[in-house]
Amino acid sequence: MEVRRLGPVVGLGTYGTFDGDARLAREVVGAALDAGVRLFDSSPMYGGAEASLGAALEGRREGTVVATKIWTPSVEEGKRQYEAHRRWYERVEVEQVHNLVSWREHLRWLEREREEGHIDRIGVTHYAASAFDELERALATGRFDTVQVPLTPFERECERRILPLAEEQGIAVIIMEPFGGTGAPLLRRPPPGDALAGLRPLGIETWAQALLAWILADPRVDVVIPATSRPERAQENAAAGEARHLGPDERALVERLAGA
Ligand SMILES: NC(=O)c1ccc[n+]([C@@H]2O[C@H](COP(=O)([O-])OP(=O)(O)OC[C@H]3O[C@@H](n4cnc5c(N)ncnc54)[C@H](OP(=O)(O)O)[C@@H]3O)[C@@H](O)[C@H]2O)c1
Repeated sequence: MEVRRLGPVVGLGTYGTFDGDARLAREVVGAALDAGVRLFDSSPMYGGAEASLGAALEGRREGTVVATKIWTPSVEEGKRQYEAHRRWYERVEVEQVHNLVSWREHLRWLEREREEGHIDRIGVTHYAASAFDELERALATGRFDTVQVPLTPFERECERRILPLAEEQGIAVIIMEPFGGTGAPLLRRPPPGDALAGLRPLGIETWAQALLAWILADPRVDVVIPATSRPERAQENAAAGEARHLGPDERALVERLAGA
């Protein structure tokens, strides 16, 4: 798979998929690992997903990138969440402040952990363009190493506001909700198979892969993190990271097929 700053370009999200079901997590994470996925995104917001991810990575942790989050207004509770991360994963490659919650307060102690080598990168996330003013303020501090936002043919505000700032500051970019979020609204009515004929020479076989490749055609993006509860879909999605890059015409085709 193609590799950028955070490793292979297709990762795996964990929201609403395996929750506390460690057996299912082992199947989905195992299939993803076999297909070349290395970055796994989670959060204390995702029920038992963090613990299940820890169990699923047992014996296969080397070379992986755990990108999880601190999600609480309280520094004490944030430190407890982090201690749990250390128990499950030993160290955290990307520790993100979820949805900007108390980001100034969390930054101070997270920076100490980064200095001590327990965290490689500190990140920040938000799912809503209405929060981009605050996200810009956070990134402007120069203290974050990664940022996570949505990007689809229907949700492109980050192209105007966040990706240019990330590029200017050398901040790595993680793309959430590539199919429009839980329930995958963008996959509900896939275009007929022959509509994708123009993309087959690039190595794209399915509509899910076309949407992922559309995102990865932007060189400012480092990794996209589709979530799934099905091992075969984890492999289908990972294969998008092997495709050749879409040019402007192919990108426009995906936008038209999406109805954007
Ligand atoms: N604020 C934040 O920090 C934030 C917010 C949102 C998301 N995130 C992160 O981003 C990740 C991705 O976003 P998301 O999970 O909300 O939405 P998503 O990845 O856009 O969509 C997930 C949905 O797509 C379906 N799916 C996946 N691959 C498929 C395929 N090949 N064919 C058909 N359906 C497929 C899954 O259903 P099945 O299980 O049935 O396959 C699931 O319902 C999250 O899991 C989370 O890690 C972070």
